[in-house]
Amino acid sequence: MTTFPLGRPARIAVLASGRGSNLEALLQAFPEGDAAGTVRLVISNRAAAAALDKARAAGVEALHLPYGDGESFAAAATAALERAGIDLVCLAGFMRILPPTFVRRYRGRLLNIHPSLLPAFRGLHAQRQALEAGVAESGCTVHFVDEGIDTGAVIEQRRVPVLPDDDEASLAERIRREEHRAFPEAVRSVLSGHATVTPEEVRR
Ligand code: GRF
Repeated sequence: MTTFPLGRPARIAVLASGRGSNLEALLQAFPEGDAAGTVRLVISNRAAAAALDKARAAGVEALHLPYGDGESFAAAATAALERAGIDLVCLAGFMRILPPTFVRRYRGRLLNIHPSLLPAFRGLHAQRQALEAGVAESGCTVHFVDEGIDTGAVIEQRRVPVLPDDDEASLAERIRREEHRAFPEAVRSVLSGHATVTPEEVRR
């Protein structure tokens, strides 16, 4: 099992299905030559994902793998991650549920970002759930991935206010700005060995 710190720069992979703004934040935070690590591989289940273009523009290997039944994606993704010598996998807007075998294999080095203050508002449309619940505050969470949906140990959270005239788009945008800080911070926390997978061991 991989344990952090590695004693060398980590090789980071990002899985993304969409626009890839969190990928961009990670690319900026972990460029070539960074002592903590560098983004080396980006995988998307969508060929048209802007995330793939952003990876290519940054000179990072970009791979489209169709999701299929999930198992074929997991097998192909595992092969690509192993080939690239990846140490840490970040889910940045990856909109599919990964099979338990994949999650178990990468336990402790598989992170996800979610647009709510978990455990509140798990699953899809977290911003809409927050608006419907009438909460005064929401935010984002970076957590280790376990076999549940948005249930793993929390590494990093950042809060934002929910304003009276917010709609889903305005709240999502305010949260997204915090995501771009939270994800790199959480990755640094894991790579430095400060955050580990067992909830009682997660500390900063
Ligand atoms: C983010 O809001 C993230 O929390 C959620 O998916 C969105 C991805 O956005 N899991 P982007 O593709 O990184 O811009």
